[in-house]
Amino acid sequence: MQEFGVILLAAGQGTRMKSALPKVLHPLAGRPLFLHALSAAQRLAPARVAIVIGHGAEAVRRACNGDAVAWAIQEKQLGTGHAVLCARDVFDGFTGDILILSGDVPLIKEATLRAMNEKHRQQKSAVTLLTASLDQPKGYGRVMRDGAGRVTGIVEEKDASDAQRQIREVNAGVYVASAAFLFSALSTVKNDNQQGEYYLPDIVAIGLAQDKIIETVQVADAREMMGVNTREELAFMEKSLRESINHKWMLAGVTLKDPDTTYIDESVIIGKDTVIGPNTQLRGKTIIGERCRIDGTAFLTDMEIGDDVELKFSVMLTGSRIGAGAIIGPFAQLRPGTELGRNVHIGNFVEAKAAHIGDGTKANHLTYLGDVTIGQDSNIGAGTITCNYDGFHKYKTKIGDRVQVGSDTTLVAPIELGDDVYVATASTVRHDVPAGALVFNQREEKIREGWTEQKRKQMKGKTK
Ligand code: UD1
Ligand code: CA
Repeated sequence: MQEFGVILLAAGQGTRMKSALPKVLHPLAGRPLFLHALSAAQRLAPARVAIVIGHGAEAVRRACNGDAVAWAIQEKQLGTGHAVLCARDVFDGFTGDILILSGDVPLIKEATLRAMNEKHRQQKSAVTLLTASLDQPKGYGRVMRDGAGRVTGIVEEKDASDAQRQIREVNAGVYVASAAFLFSALSTVKNDNQQGEYYLPDIVAIGLAQDKIIETVQVADAREMMGVNTREELAFMEKSLRESINHKWMLAGVTLKDPDTTYIDESVIIGKDTVIGPNTQLRGKTIIGERCRIDGTAFLTDMEIGDDVELKFSVMLTGSRIGAGAIIGPFAQLRPGTELGRNVHIGNFVEAKAAHIGDGTKANHLTYLGDVTIGQDSNIGAGTITCNYDGFHKYKTKIGDRVQVGSDTTLVAPIELGDDVYVATASTVRHDVPAGALVFNQREEKIREGWTEQKRKQMKGKTK
């Protein structure tokens, strides 16, 4: 089989975004724009991939960690043709075809790219380009054809005559070209046009002049080739992508009570018969098990959640693991590094950070659990605080199995409570407590009978 390579163009600034951030780094469904096109291309298993960067090159490179790609630097953005030439070294000695994509065209589908490749090989073309027929072709390069319907060239909007601007078939900016033809044609492209740029689409006219075969593939759904040039277009695309992600999960057996207010990143995985309520955001590498119930107003990032978990109304959960059957919320926060066993209950106004909590343990009300390990079947009373920070260092708390922590307890870390310990209510515990012991603070309790009535008399007329 012939070698197959990819060039992704991502050097432009994206002036119309009016942003300090390079356009291709603006997130779409939780991922930088250019990574969408890149992953569609990666699915074709290319032998070489070059990404052309320029504006914010370092930041773009950092956003792509892990992927095996070559970077080509385009110092000055002299046009799309010049950008592709910048990747020439990466394809030294390469004899196959190259797929060229734009970093700002994120919805392009693997199937479309495959269809282009196929046609390109079958027809033995020099260039196969993707086109679309648009009701509003404004801004795009137009595809010119002769009376027999053969492509005769591409004209950019800014260079087009009024008659040419009436053409509705546009260049989608996605090409397959044989490497040898591509680089030799590009070295002859000139910049004598309205924008003074080296246009990549000019290779079409160059190929035709050399009697090469130029083929087109028309994209079925024009949304696939939409580029992002403004923030409004980004929002539109975000919505359209969100709809298709929601659609996918509903087809896979997940109930979304209000798809309009459900935001699921592309990387998220959800088990079937899970029910998701309104105003829910599932972000990053979140994985949710089967038969879970998310009431709504939930903000989850990088969460791993077992089966049959219930997230009550209003939770903020980040970078943590929740075992099967656990119940979290309402109004609870899990911060990174928290690991909850099976059937753990974390109730309202409870915050956990780097907390490792064993099966069946409960902390149902008003509690801070930071840097703590708790065993199984323990109960943490309302208003328990692990005092893990003295202003200089963080310290750890360890609590055993079947421990009863009374309400309004402060545990001053570092500290360890053995198995079966009882902590009396309103205790401040500063020392380790051995297994099976009761710990309490000695305090004198006094009662003054009739005090309230006396006080009220005394204060009569003195308050506002
Ligand atoms: C381009 C096509 C146009 C097509 C449209 C489809 C050209 C001259 N025109 O126009 O026919 O209809 O795409 O979306 O190619 N880039 C660089 N370096 C540069 C210039 C651009 O890397 O010097 C990158 C941009 O970052 C972007 C891509 O190339 O990812 C496309 O550039 P852009 O300026 O957006 O081209 P369009 O005007 O949209
Ligand atoms: Ca564009």
